[in-house]
Amino acid sequence: MADIENSGEVLSFPSEAKPGTLQPPRILAIANQKGGVGKTTTAINLGTALAAIGERVLIVDLDPQGNASTGLGIDQKSREHSTYDVITGAEPLRAAILATAVPHLYIAPGTMDLSGFELEMGHTRDRAFRLRNALANLNEGRAGSTDFNYVLVDCPPSLNLLTINAMAAAQAILVPLQCEFFALEGLSQLLKTVDQVKQTLNPDLTIHGVVLTMYDARNNLSGQVMADVREFMGPKVYDTVIPRNVRVSEAPSYGKPVLIYDLKCVGSEAYLRLATEIIQREKQLKDRRAS
Ligand SMILES: Nc1ncnc2c1ncn2[C@@H]1O[C@H](COP(=O)(O)OP(=O)(O)OP(=O)(O)O)[C@@H](O)[C@H]1O
Ligand SMILES: [Mg+2]
Repeated sequence: MADIENSGEVLSFPSEAKPGTLQPPRILAIANQKGGVGKTTTAINLGTALAAIGERVLIVDLDPQGNASTGLGIDQKSREHSTYDVITGAEPLRAAILATAVPHLYIAPGTMDLSGFELEMGHTRDRAFRLRNALANLNEGRAGSTDFNYVLVDCPPSLNLLTINAMAAAQAILVPLQCEFFALEGLSQLLKTVDQVKQTLNPDLTIHGVVLTMYDARNNLSGQVMADVREFMGPKVYDTVIPRNVRVSEAPSYGKPVLIYDLKCVGSEAYLRLATEIIQREKQLKDRRAS
């Protein structure tokens, strides 16, 4: 066991991740064009929770803000190669991948130059498939210690070419949705884009689920939005709801996932439950594919 201790609470990680299988990884895009809804927080903490149960996880930071990289303690100087270099073809994905302080959790960092990607690509024919192509051989010939089971793509707050690349590369989309007034309008727009991507670039794309974030039990609106979203999206909404919790918002300034910063806070507990639910959903999907 590798333990990471903080404030007396210890999150244990298996010393070895699950053995690699040479299977392609499961690729989940964490997307919502609305800003500040918890995409990056979900990428970091879901990634950490999956790593704690022995999955080998790669976060692909596809946002010019680079918040997932900063939140995992990767400073600008260490970002020698970034996802920009990868999707423009200058470097293979493996060259950009860095280990984080969390065992079994890796990141391909994002940098500001990603903001120029769409303009620079112009009408290049494969412009929507740059990330898919870069991920295609991730596990090839590398069974064992460097095999990844999950790739989580942290998208920018826009339905731009970067997000389209994530949707074209992913098997499924995970949508963080903040419990606030315009949440449903934004969701409809996102679902329309997912449909368009399905029809054109990625026929197998599905919605993995919607996770309600920053839920505030004292706020009537939070409860109303939750009821509306559950009515609209049915079982696609995860049972787990992420509460608004100050420890969650403090953690990134220490370059740590909240699960490491304060394992016992309600935010950490919620992200652990979300990871369990996602693993269960993954198992159901796998059984369905096999039958
Ligand atoms: N459950 C939570 N409780 C309290 N604060 C939270 C919670 N989740 C996220 N936050 C805070 O809300 C802000 C936005 O979260 P985050 O950066 O994850 O959103 P985002 O969707 O990735 O934003 P962007 O669209 O800019 O990339 C951050 O300051 C984060 O620390
Ligand atoms: Mg973000």
